[in-house]
Amino acid sequence: MPNKNAFVVWFTGLSGTGKTTLAKLLIPHFSKDFPEVEHIDGDELRDLFPEIGFYREDRELHVKRVAHTAALLEKHNVVTITSLISPYESSRKFAHSICKNFFEIYLSTSLEVCEKRDPKGLYLKARSGLIKNFTGIGDVYEAPKNPFLNINTELGSPEEMALTIYRKISLQLGKT
Ligand code: ADX
Repeated sequence: MPNKNAFVVWFTGLSGTGKTTLAKLLIPHFSKDFPEVEHIDGDELRDLFPEIGFYREDRELHVKRVAHTAALLEKHNVVTITSLISPYESSRKFAHSICKNFFEIYLSTSLEVCEKRDPKGLYLKARSGLIKNFTGIGDVYEAPKNPFLNINTELGSPEEMALTIYRKISLQLGKT
């Protein structure tokens, strides 16, 4: 890869689309080209800081904090991969504006499919009213209008998709 400047890979999409899985699979790919690769995951942060809620203001702040961290890491030449629902256009725009090289990857797998997968049983809880403000059910997901990539994770294996993402980003970086 000729261009050795770091960058930020920003996954966005509904819960259950596969953001964390793809982020983890990308790490060994980018580690071939860059000495430092970091992954920031929404669920991990929320386990550490359970006081972060799911109202719009909470999510906006949470996403903006991650964006700031990603920008700092990028500045220090750490390839940074984030996996957060990041449902609102405004905070993703903020992330884009403060990171230098920003690759937004929209996982566009449908609500119907995510709900069928329901790996954590949360959609069921949201439908039965036990969880309020669940993205896609009680709260909005604003789909990106112009992402770097739009991927429906139903259409291939996670390994294949991670490889595709790695190749497309590498190709793009080769051009710049
Ligand atoms: S974000 O909206 O603020 O970007 P983030 O990615 O950090 O969300 O966390 C989403 C995860 O929190 C989901 O994958 C799910 O496990 C859990 N979760 C719990 N309550 C909610 C909710 N109301 N809406 C969405 N996700 C929720």
